[in-house]
Amino acid sequence: MKLRAVVAATALAIVGTVVGMVAGPAWAQAHAERYAAQCAACHGPQGTSTQALTPHLGGQPSFYAITQLFLFREGRRNDHPLAPAMAAVAKGMSDADLRGFSEVIATLPAPAAADRGLRDDARFARGQALAGKHHCTGCHGTDLAGGKQVPRVSGQREDYLLLALQGFRSGKRLGYTNAMGEALAGLSPEDLADLAHHMAHHGSPAGR
Ligand code: HEC
Ligand code: HEC
Repeated sequence: MKLRAVVAATALAIVGTVVGMVAGPAWAQAHAERYAAQCAACHGPQGTSTQALTPHLGGQPSFYAITQLFLFREGRRNDHPLAPAMAAVAKGMSDADLRGFSEVIATLPAPAAADRGLRDDARFARGQALAGKHHCTGCHGTDLAGGKQVPRVSGQREDYLLLALQGFRSGKRLGYTNAMGEALAGLSPEDLADLAHHMAHHGSPAGR
C-alpha cells in the first residue's frame, strides 16, 4: 500500500473509532475551552484568523479538520513556512483530542465577508472561469463550502489559499488524497493567484 493510502486508512480508522465514543455536553464544553486556550490566539476565538498565512477554521467540515490534524500530528503536512508551529500544537494530541477539536471547529461560523480586502473584478472573473473549467466546484461545491473530507475554500484568507495551492502544485503538500495534485496539473502561477483571489472573495459583493 502506498504511503498516502496508509495515511488515509489510518485517519479513517480514527474517525470510525471516535465516532463511536460517547461525547456529551461536558465533553464538548471542555474542548471549546481548550480551543479558546490553545488555538484562538492564532486562528481567532470564532475561527476567523487575523494572522498572516494562518487559515480561518470557521465553517470547515469536521471530517476535513480531523484529517488535517492527523496529518500535522504525524508530520505529514509540512510544506508551509508556519507548519512547524501547527505541527508542534498537534504533536501531543490523542485521537480523542483530534475528534474534540474537529467537532469544535465545525461549530464555528464561516468567516464574514468584511475581512476579505478589496476585490479585483477582472481577476475574480478569471478565477471563476478557471474554477469551472478545472472542476474545482465539482468537489468543493458550487458554493465552495466543501463537505466531508473536502475543505471550505469560500472566504478563506487569500495569502493562505495561494500558499496551499502552490504547495499542492509543487507536490510539497502531500494531501490526504492526490485529488488536488491532479486538479492543479498544468495550471500556471498566475492561474493559482487568480483562483486564490476568486475563492477568498467568493460570496462578497463586487468591488469589495
Ligand atoms: C502558533 C499559531 C497556531 C496555533 C496556536 C494553532 N494553529 Fe492551527 N494552524 C496554524 C497555521 C500557520 C496553519 C497552516 C499551516 C499549514 O498550512 O501547514 C494551521 C492550520 C490548521 C488547520 C488546517 C486548516 C486547513 O484549512 O487546512 C487546522 C484544522 C488547525 N490548524 C487547527 C488548530 C487547532 C485545533 C489548534 C489548537 C489546538 C491550533 N490549530 C493551534 C497556526 C496555529
Ligand atoms: C476531486 C476532488 C477535488 C477537486 C477537483 C478539487 N479539489 Fe481542492 N481539495 C480536495 C480535497 C479532498 C482537499 C483536501 C486536501 C487533502 O487531501 O488533504 C482539497 C484541498 C484544497 C485546498 C486547501 C484548503 C485548505 O484549507 O488548506 C484548496 C485551496 C483547494 N482544494 C482548491 C481547489 C481548486 C482551486 C480546485 C480547482 C483547480 C480544486 N481545489 C479542485 C478535493 C478537490
